[in-house]
This record gives sequence, structure tokens and C-alpha cells, in this order.
Amino acid sequence: MQYRTFGALDWRPSALGFGAMRLPLLSADPEATKPDPSRIDYPAATAMLHWAIDHGVNYVDTAYIYHGGASEPWLAQALEGGYREKVKVATKLPIWDVKKAADLDRLLDEQRERLRMERIDCYLLHGLDAESWDKVESLGVLEWGAGALADGRIAHFGFSFHDDYSVFERIVDAGAGLWSFCQIQYNYMDTEFQAGTRGLEYAAARGLAVVVMEPIRGGMLARKAPPKVARLWRQARARRSRADWALQWIWDHPQVSLVLSGMSTMRQVRENVASAERSAVGALSEEELAVVAQVRDAYRELAVIPCTDCKYCLPCPNGVQIPGVFAIYNDAEIYGDRARARLYYAWLEEGERADRCARCGRCEELCPQGIGIMDWLEKAQAFLGVEQGPAG
Ligand SMILES: NC(=O)c1ccc[n+]([C@@H]2O[C@H](COP(=O)([O-])OP(=O)(O)OC[C@H]3O[C@@H](n4cnc5c(N)ncnc54)[C@H](OP(=O)(O)O)[C@@H]3O)[C@@H](O)[C@H]2O)c1
Repeated sequence: MQYRTFGALDWRPSALGFGAMRLPLLSADPEATKPDPSRIDYPAATAMLHWAIDHGVNYVDTAYIYHGGASEPWLAQALEGGYREKVKVATKLPIWDVKKAADLDRLLDEQRERLRMERIDCYLLHGLDAESWDKVESLGVLEWGAGALADGRIAHFGFSFHDDYSVFERIVDAGAGLWSFCQIQYNYMDTEFQAGTRGLEYAAARGLAVVVMEPIRGGMLARKAPPKVARLWRQARARRSRADWALQWIWDHPQVSLVLSGMSTMRQVRENVASAERSAVGALSEEELAVVAQVRDAYRELAVIPCTDCKYCLPCPNGVQIPGVFAIYNDAEIYGDRARARLYYAWLEEGERADRCARCGRCEELCPQGIGIMDWLEKAQAFLGVEQGPAG
């Protein structure tokens, strides 16, 4: 295993961390209409974690909500028998469940109990964005975090992030001296999305460890590639799996502390550990970096709506999250995964989806790209919306 640096901490993280969000599940209950994420296959998931730790992985990432709340209890059991001492455990506070200051202690203490840990090594505020950041400020969550560090219930404080770069910078600055680390979505397609490359560099320059999530874009970059992308991979002189290309590209960045992968099979664990063993800053040649850049361009050309996420169209008087809807639609076209896109679309707030469009036309007057927004919203709703059952 290769080991890297973790911000200002005197501790060396393994290049690969184990994400406990996509663990293998028991086969579905025949009566169930949809898979139950809490039915973790304990023996299979535990064998995967043990294999990873036995091969040098020393960081495990979970959260209060993963697997419908079942990931933390699974991890507590899986780390019995001497494994606990070999890893740092990271978990996350579900900030959306915090309504008043007293909820902070209640949730942290419940998580310590679920994890059977007096002290949580790495504690994150989960999925911060502009809205939840307002709550962090109004409820004094940073001061509370400082207290939890002081009384020893957590060893290191950080946050995971899903919003625009400007919000990221604000959060990094506001917690200066308190944050040890942050967790961002980063992969060769998301260089300008959310925190992006700028965020990676900004946080690392301020001494924060940067943990990367979604390095394979939730698996999309490893699945069957569209013909133009597949051709580029075939033409590359280096022979790598698509997952390996994605991971090595991230490890090539010196600012990255560790890369989390939510592996769902033992084969993926073995492959990604083998990738991590070969990883290094500068491991990709100029020629290989150029191939990845061509692949990125080829994927991006598959986007059908030329939305640049400038947000001039917002706020929509009816609440439609126009760039968010278009990003999901474009992703469905780029990665050819309609099922996943429909799932992400369903996760938008009901009032943010395209069916709220009243065709007032305000957005089209403001769009610098001249996009026919109203017609695209209609198409997006038809493509991504929940299908109505037959009448009656
Ligand atoms: N804080 C947050 O808001 C947040 C959000 C997302 C993730 N996370 C954390 O970050 C971790 C990593 O994110 P992620 O799970 O999205 O990572 P990821 O590595 O981008 O996606 C994981 C998926 O990639 C595919 N995959 C992984 N290794 C592969 C291989 N060798 N070959 C082929 N396919 C492979 C699998 O998908 P298939 O098996 O389906 O093909 C797997 O389920 C999560 O597990 C979680 O702990 C946190």
C-alpha cells in the first residue's frame, strides 16, 4: 500500500479508503417491491473490509444515514477482533436532522453508541451546502464541534461538501483552525463542478487534508463507455481498466490525501487495492494525462443541453432548479444511465422538478446561452419523471 499525508496530522493515510455506502446486500425479500439498503450482507461486507485492512487500508468512511442507518452498526461489528485499532473511522452528522442545538449531542452520542466508540476519529458535518451552512452558523455548530473536540468525543472535525466553489471557500475560511479535513466529490469529469480543482487546491493550501469521494463518479466512469470514449481508451498505449484510469488520475494530484471508493464486491476491493499499490503523484505520463483530457472532452460533447450552470436563470418564480435538472438530464445522455438519472431526479425536492414550470419565459430572457429552457424542461420531465400508472 502507498501512504500519503493527511493535512497537518502526524499520520499517514492509505491512498485508498474504504467507503461503507455501497456494501453488498442480501438478496431481496421476494415480497419487497424495492431493494432494502439496510439488508447488508454481513459476511460478504466484513470479508471485503478485512481484506482491505489486511492489505494496508487504514481509513473507513461511513455516515449516520448510509444503508438506511445500518452501516454504522455493521462497521462496529466488522471491526471487532483487532481491526478497530488498525483504522481511523470517519462518520458524519446528518445536519438536516438537526433542528435545535440539543440535537447535536443527541446524534453524536447515538453514533458513538452505534459505532461502540468512546471517541470518533474523524467526524464530519454531512453534505454541507449554502442552506445547511446557514444552519451551522445560526445554531453555533462550529462552537459545538470545538466542545466535542475538547471533551474527547471526537478526535478530528471536518465536513463533506456538495455546493458551488464560492460556498466551499466560505466554509473553509469560517472553520479555519477547527477543520482538520474536508471531503469533496472529485474525478476527472468534475474538475469544475462543486469544489472542483480550485477547491482541492484551496483547502490543501490551508493545511486541510482533502478526502476524495465519488472518484469513479459513483461507478459511471467504469461502466460501458459510449463508442467515441471507448475508442479513445482503446487507442491509449497504456492498458488500464477504466476504474484504474479514474483512480490514478486522482492520485496524481499531490493535494489529495486519500481516495474513498464505495466498493460493492470483493473483486472491486482487490482491483482498487492493487491500483492504490501502484499509485503515486506523477505516476501518469503527459501522454496518459492527455488521453484522460480527450476522454473528458468526448464525454462532455455528449451533453445535449449547453447549460454552463451560470445560474442566471435563477431564481425561477416557480422554484424549478433549472441547472440541476439539466445536469441530471445531461448526465443521463453522457453516461447512458437513465435509471440512475431518474433516481437522482427523484431526490430533488418535489417543487424543484421540471413539472413546476409554468412557461412564464423569464428564464429564457435571462439565459446567456439562448437555451430553449421551457422546451428542455418539458423533455426532461418526460425522460426523468416518475411514470404514471395506467388511469383507473
Ligand atoms: N459525504 C457525502 O455526501 C458522500 C457522497 C457520496 C459518497 N460518499 C462517500 O464516499 C465513498 C466513495 O464514493 P462512491 O461510493 O460514490 O465512489 P465511486 O468509487 O465513485 O463509486 C463506487 C462504485 O464504483 C464502481 N466501482 C468501484 N470500483 C470499481 C472497479 N474496480 N471496477 C468497476 N467498478 C468499480 C461500483 O459501482 P457498480 O458496482 O454499481 O458498478 C461502486 O459501487 C462512498 O462510499 C461514501 O463513503 C460521501
